[in-house]
Amino acid sequence: MPDPLANSNIALGVTGSIACYKAVDLASKLTQAGALVDVVMTADACKFLAPLTFRSITHRPVVTNVFDPQSELSIDHVAIAERADAVIVAPATANTIAKLAHGFADDALTTTILATQAPLIVAPAMDAHMYDNVATQRNIATLRERGCVIAGPASGRLASGLVGKGRLLETPELLGCLRQTLGSDGDLAGRKVVVSAGGTQEPIDPVRVIANHSSGKMGYAVAEAARDRGAEVSIVSAPTALPDPFGIKVVSVRTALQMQGALHKECANADALVMAAAVADWRPSDMSDQKVKKGAADTWQIELIKNPDIIAGITFERLVKVGFAAESEDLVANAESKLLGKGLHLIAANDITAEDSGFGVDTNKVVLLDREGGQEALPLMSKYDVGCAILDRVVGYLY
Ligand code: CTP
Repeated sequence: MPDPLANSNIALGVTGSIACYKAVDLASKLTQAGALVDVVMTADACKFLAPLTFRSITHRPVVTNVFDPQSELSIDHVAIAERADAVIVAPATANTIAKLAHGFADDALTTTILATQAPLIVAPAMDAHMYDNVATQRNIATLRERGCVIAGPASGRLASGLVGKGRLLETPELLGCLRQTLGSDGDLAGRKVVVSAGGTQEPIDPVRVIANHSSGKMGYAVAEAARDRGAEVSIVSAPTALPDPFGIKVVSVRTALQMQGALHKECANADALVMAAAVADWRPSDMSDQKVKKGAADTWQIELIKNPDIIAGITFERLVKVGFAAESEDLVANAESKLLGKGLHLIAANDITAEDSGFGVDTNKVVLLDREGGQEALPLMSKYDVGCAILDRVVGYLY
């Protein structure tokens, strides 16, 4: 299944908050993802930004006024409302949220929203005290009860100088929310997918660890792809530099043993496990409580003991298990023996010596091997698309 944003119709409502500059980036990223974006601005949003800004990015007319003779709304005032696959208001001021909660239709945006049957996402942005106000909270609760998705706000420094809750979510989170909303009826709806990601770290002493080069990107991409076709998703994540993806539970761990414990818990009620983490095979047999001093010796022997094979040891009956095999030689033969040895349904083997696949990059080139002996070499693709290809196979194995 491709990115749900590709070829989608998104109505983007922009209201008069200083955060509306971020809506420009959102409109741009949506357009780049292949969405057809109809921007509807309130009069106050036009005080912050010119409609031309959005028109230049979306290559489409921008609606600002129900009675504008140039506006499509004057020809058919529900045209945008009807073709939208999703409507997102980002940023949404307290005033617009109040109007939506009470069913007002006094401008182009509220009219569009009242007329649409598409899912509605509201991303609040305002001063912390306005957000906390009981009136705003009640209006948000009313919208939520009606099935509207409230995305954010985040906490942090606000334009008023206050620090608190009221920041518009960042573009990747808003895109994630849209993808999750568009894909909610997908072929993983009602299913739980657990993904492990990142490279575990095994402590030697309080300052040193045994680590590896895994960035976590492959696991996070699979998790997002599962979210975008309707799954409830948990990532059990070793340390990474990646932000938490929207709508996904992230359980943070450091060591292989912690990952094992967290995965056993998460997988107890799951349908599939995709094990993208690079698990350290060995850990120091003793962790020193104090920083080990250099001293006079020229060498340092650290004794290592073997970590458990996590995926091999997770044996819930209905769980579909997918592994990864990062290999530097004999790709297919090594992957095949891991597939069988660990009791997997599927394994994605990748050649870590290739420049455009493996650690740190956004692309990957894998060979998929299944337990029936099937083998498919996929071309170089984004890690998200590799995730989609893996999940296509997972769907076929679900009980
Ligand atoms: N794996 C695991 N527990 C381990 C080691 C690996 O669950 N202790 C999982 C990985 O997450 C991956 C698959 O097993 O999905 C294959 O991992 P890989 O490191 O390629 O293989 P190993 O079994 O560690 O074998 P080797 O290091 O000898 O290649």
